[in-house]
Amino acid sequence: MIFLDLVKERSSIRAYETRPVPEATLMQVLEAARWAPSAANRQPWHLVLVQDAAQRRSLAEAYPREWFWQAPAIIVVCVESARAWTRSDGKNYADVDGAIAMDHLTLCATDLGLATCWVAAFDAAKVRGVLALPTGVDPLAMTPIGYPAGAGREKTRKPMADVLRRERW
Ligand SMILES: Cc1cc2nc3c(=O)[nH]c(=O)nc-3n(C[C@H](O)[C@H](O)[C@H](O)COP(=O)(O)O)c2cc1C
Repeated sequence: MIFLDLVKERSSIRAYETRPVPEATLMQVLEAARWAPSAANRQPWHLVLVQDAAQRRSLAEAYPREWFWQAPAIIVVCVESARAWTRSDGKNYADVDGAIAMDHLTLCATDLGLATCWVAAFDAAKVRGVLALPTGVDPLAMTPIGYPAGAGREKTRKPMADVLRRERW
């Protein structure tokens, strides 16, 4: 798909078919995340693929929505800030790097006819527990991934005139 069309096509889907996604297709999506750029190429991310039904239900205790756990798989993007690049003023780029990986993943999924939805409004302590994350590895965002069972909401964005400034503020 033309890249700009793909960007506009991706939307947050909150209804999923239960049929599984072929392993090779999931691996393509994960590959898109793995090839994401990161500050100083530190790649401070970890991708956790959750397919087991009981594990998906446990994960949903951290984000209790039926559409979330009913998808055949959930991908959790985690970051390890100690491995990420830190700017001289102390700003750590782990979350930025993880977000780029997540964006690659969701766009690739759209290109393959799959649905996703960024989820960040979860109980992080519960996610940590269910996934047995080691100290220093934090859940950044998750997405269900599967075939769409419904359309997304209408996409709206601010007009260009509201977001673009030229040369200075
Ligand atoms: C960082 C981030 C966190 C989000 N967290 C949630 C969430 O917890 N639950 C949810 O239903 N949608 C969540 N979303 C989806 C947004 O609501 C959605 O991207 C936005 O409304 C624009 O719609 P679109 O994705 O269809 O273009 C999140 C999106 C981003 C980028």
